Amino acid sequence: MGQLDGKTVVITGGTSGIGLATAQRFTQEGAHVYITGRRKETLDQAAELIGGNVTPVQADSANLADLDRLYATVADAGHRIDVLFANAGGGEFAPLDQVTEEHYDSTFDSNVKGTLFTVQKALPHLVDGASVILTGSIAGVSGDPAFGVYGASKAAIRSFSRTWANELSGRGIRVNTISPGPITTPGVNGLAADEEGAEQLRKTLAGIVPLGRMGQPEEVAALALFLATDQASFITGTEIFVDGGAKQV
Ligand SMILES: NC(=O)c1ccc[n+]([C@@H]2O[C@H](COP(=O)([O-])OP(=O)(O)OC[C@H]3O[C@@H](n4cnc5c(N)ncnc54)[C@H](OP(=O)(O)O)[C@@H]3O)[C@@H](O)[C@H]2O)c1
Repeated sequence: MGQLDGKTVVITGGTSGIGLATAQRFTQEGAHVYITGRRKETLDQAAELIGGNVTPVQADSANLADLDRLYATVADAGHRIDVLFANAGGGEFAPLDQVTEEHYDSTFDSNVKGTLFTVQKALPHLVDGASVILTGSIAGVSGDPAFGVYGASKAAIRSFSRTWANELSGRGIRVNTISPGPITTPGVNGLAADEEGAEQLRKTLAGIVPLGRMGQPEEVAALALFLATDQASFITGTEIFVDGGAKQV
């Protein structure tokens, strides 16, 4: 028996890295999973990889009409949402003197606006007692150079989870933030200009982790699974780090 048998899950940014690993794990645990992403080809490849019990919906989390279409797809299938993993997002390096309006807008649109309206528009579709999981980052609690805008966007997400845990407690809905440290994903590899740069970046990132390595997307998926189930029935409003100790010791 799976830990999510019969459950309906929405995972934004479910086509790559952490979101994809979580979608794979959740379907293995018996859930039906809706995944989103902006790129159609990547979305289709992810759905094929997951194999079954998945509905891909091409959607930009920062586009409110896309979010309406996502939740209409869920409702039209007769589903109500047990678990919402608002995971879509990302960032790029930009030291303060190189931050552009475009960098600010794209980071805050995907990470902050996207998370806000992903959760707001899900409200009528969430079951009472649902689990809402947001994706923060260790960057939200640190001062890593060149990650100022990204870090601020993730600090906003952590703040959202405090407020929403309060606002939604009457419905028994739990809201928590997962904050990963460096995790090996296409998103992180894409921060470097080429494979040589990516290798150097992975070495640098592993060097800040007491466990001496980067994390795997499956290790974040394991935490998401815990928060998704009744194992976490008394946990809300919190931030849980999955960072190999990077910002803990
Ligand atoms: N990997 C890490 O080290 C790390 C550490 C801390 C936090 N995080 C956070 O974890 C989350 C996942 O990151 P990842 O490393 O797994 O990155 P990834 O491999 O680049 O995956 C990101 C996913 O989000 C989607 N996405 C991005 N912006 C979107 C938008 N506006 N609307 C809909 N989908 C969008 C991407 O698909 P499309 O590009 O096709 O839209 C993709 O499916 C992000 O929120 C990231 O900030 C990652």
